[in-house]
Amino acid sequence: MTTTAAATPAPVDPYQVLKGFASLRKLAGAYPAGHPMIEQKVREVDEAVQEHLRTNPVFRIEMIHGNVFLDGVSFSRDPQANNQIILELANLGVDSIHIHEGVVPDELRAVAEFLWQLKEGPHTESIAEQLIARNVRHISLGTLVPLDTRWRAQQWPDAPTGPLDPAYAESLQRAEQTFETVAAGRKLEVVSVRDLVQLLVYKVARSNAALGQILAVKQYENLTYCHSVNVAILSLLLGQQLRLSEAAMAELVEAALLHDIGKTRIPLGILKKPGALDKRERRLMEAHTVLGAEILVQIEGLWPLTPLVALEHHRSLKGTGYPDVGDGVVPHVMSQIVSVADIYEAITGARSYQDPTLPERACLVLARLAGQKLNTALVKAFVNAITFFPLGSLVRTTRDEIGVVNRTTPNDPLHPVLTLLDEDLDRARGEIDTSARDSSGAYERHIVETLVPPDQELDVTKFLASAPPVA
Ligand SMILES: [Fe+2]
Repeated sequence: MTTTAAATPAPVDPYQVLKGFASLRKLAGAYPAGHPMIEQKVREVDEAVQEHLRTNPVFRIEMIHGNVFLDGVSFSRDPQANNQIILELANLGVDSIHIHEGVVPDELRAVAEFLWQLKEGPHTESIAEQLIARNVRHISLGTLVPLDTRWRAQQWPDAPTGPLDPAYAESLQRAEQTFETVAAGRKLEVVSVRDLVQLLVYKVARSNAALGQILAVKQYENLTYCHSVNVAILSLLLGQQLRLSEAAMAELVEAALLHDIGKTRIPLGILKKPGALDKRERRLMEAHTVLGAEILVQIEGLWPLTPLVALEHHRSLKGTGYPDVGDGVVPHVMSQIVSVADIYEAITGARSYQDPTLPERACLVLARLAGQKLNTALVKAFVNAITFFPLGSLVRTTRDEIGVVNRTTPNDPLHPVLTLLDEDLDRARGEIDTSARDSSGAYERHIVETLVPPDQELDVTKFLASAPPVA
């Protein structure tokens, strides 16, 4: 299965239409309404759009990272020459143009004038409201940050903020480069993937500070490359718990790191859309699995399992999920491992439509999925590996103490060792082992809850940096 572009005999070039809009916008600013140059340009754009609408109900252009997508299919030819136009529209906050059947030339004129006036600064009304006010009913303009706030669209940072563990910061930077290379259609050198895997296995996974930043609540919306690094480390922790061999671990980490690479082909407007996706958007989003596998099989030197994991990571233990690869086909165990890590990572990170889920709740979500979507044995091993209160979690005890989890207790995931903090959450007051028991054998204290750090500035890593690394 590939992306499902509607079959048009001769696809309209979306760059031509974008250029048309960019020129129309300038003409609308320079000449009075009805000027022959404006009318000529309106005719050209209208013809191209109508041509496409003859065989498709909607003409959808999305512009992401300088790439143009028509109905979800990338048009990457000659991008250099068109960058300026895309940039111009992006600077106005316009990343997508959807034109529906029934559009009339008057609406194209009105949009051109609207785009011209848009440079005059932000409006209190949403773009949708302003277009309706201009009688534009068949054209919608989208932005990465939707102005139409029908859905709660909270603004989270895109990536972790504040001081980062150096190895983690380096791995994020390298992963970003990897994803950008693929997104730009450049050749991905396997050696750079191998280096990144080594960095994750030998440095990031051995740094408590890094693990704290990966495991605890993440108050940023995960860009794909951050998500991928985190999923790779979580998969690694699960692999260690399962006592996988070193060779198997290298395969697992590579596959986990690249499992979502197909998302480089999905418009960011869809990846970051607050609220539910419509049917077309969902189908496109689901295609990241097949697209990922297609990208990865073409890269020489990767492990054979890597494309398979990209293909299967949204398939369930029962053989359901997507893509459809036949009834009852159970995913490879490596894909099953990545699925557990993927779900945990996704729900403990913030999204524009939901706050991050606390780690202990995320573990309960995984437990509910065990046996259906996820492999029960893997979920148990995962929860044992990361515990209900993972490293870096800010927690409160039954004695009303607040601390950061800095070590887990083997076989007692509910009672880790904490670095106690002072009232301002600024300084360490010492260490307590919540698994300690009094003379009657009862626990001296329990953890009551995980707390969401009061602000992004709280640097839990400084309470973790000196702690001994996990085995
Ligand atoms: Fe995915």
